Amino acid sequence: MRDCWIAPSILSANFAKLGEEVDAVVAAGADLIHFDVMDNHYVPNLTIGPLVCEALRKHGVKAPIDVHLMVKPVDRIIPDFAAAGASYISIHPEATEHVDRSLQLIREHGCRSGLVLNPATSLNWLDHVIDKVDLVLLMSVNPGFGGQQFIDATLPKIRAVRERIDRTGRPIRLEVDGGIKVANIGKVAAAGADTFVAGSAIFGAGDYHGIIAAMRREIAAPS
Ligand code: DX5
Ligand code: ZN
Repeated sequence: MRDCWIAPSILSANFAKLGEEVDAVVAAGADLIHFDVMDNHYVPNLTIGPLVCEALRKHGVKAPIDVHLMVKPVDRIIPDFAAAGASYISIHPEATEHVDRSLQLIREHGCRSGLVLNPATSLNWLDHVIDKVDLVLLMSVNPGFGGQQFIDATLPKIRAVRERIDRTGRPIRLEVDGGIKVANIGKVAAAGADTFVAGSAIFGAGDYHGIIAAMRREIAAPS
C-alpha cells in the first residue's frame, strides 16, 4: 500500500479567512496544501502569489506547501516562492523556454521540483528530465478553474507515468489534479497516483474531516 497524500487546493477555500481554512484542513488530516498560482496569461484566471504563501507561513502553517505555477514565464518567480516558504514548486513545460533549467532552479533554491502535464501534453516531456523531478503532476482537467469535471483519459496516463516512475527506482510523487472527489478517487489511486489534489470536493463539504476520511477509505478500498 502506497503512502498516499491528500492535498486540498486552497483555490476553493474562503480567501477572506485563508489561514483558518488551512489550519482546519490540516487538522482534518490534509498532508500538504496545494497552492494554485494563476496569472491571467498562461491560464485565463488570476489568483495568488508569494506574499500569500509567506503570510500562511507567518500565520504558523507548518504543513508542506505544494505550489502549482500556472504562470508564464516561471523563472523570475521561482526564487520568490522558495523564499516565501514553498516546499514543492511545479511548472508546466509550455510555460518556460528551458524546462531543464527551470527544474534545476527550483532545486537550487532548496525546493522539490515538479513537472505538470496538461491533459493534451505528451509524456515525452519526462524523457530527458525525470532525474530532475521529485513530483509529476498530471492535470485531469484543463488548468485555470476549480470545480471542473475529471477527464477520464487521464487514467491510462497515470498508469503510464507510474511505470516510468517505478523504472527510475526513485521516490517521485505522482500527483493528480482536477475533478477528484470521493466517487472517483479510488480509480485514480488504483491507476497508480499517490497524491490527490481536491479543491471543491473538500472545501465545498461542511465537514473537512469527514470528507478527507472518506477519500482515504476509497483509496484503501475503492467501491
Ligand atoms: C485547476 C487547479 C486545481 C483546482 C482543482 O487549474 O490546478 O488545483 O483547484 O479544483 P477541483 O478539485 O475543484 O477540480
Ligand atoms: Zn493545481
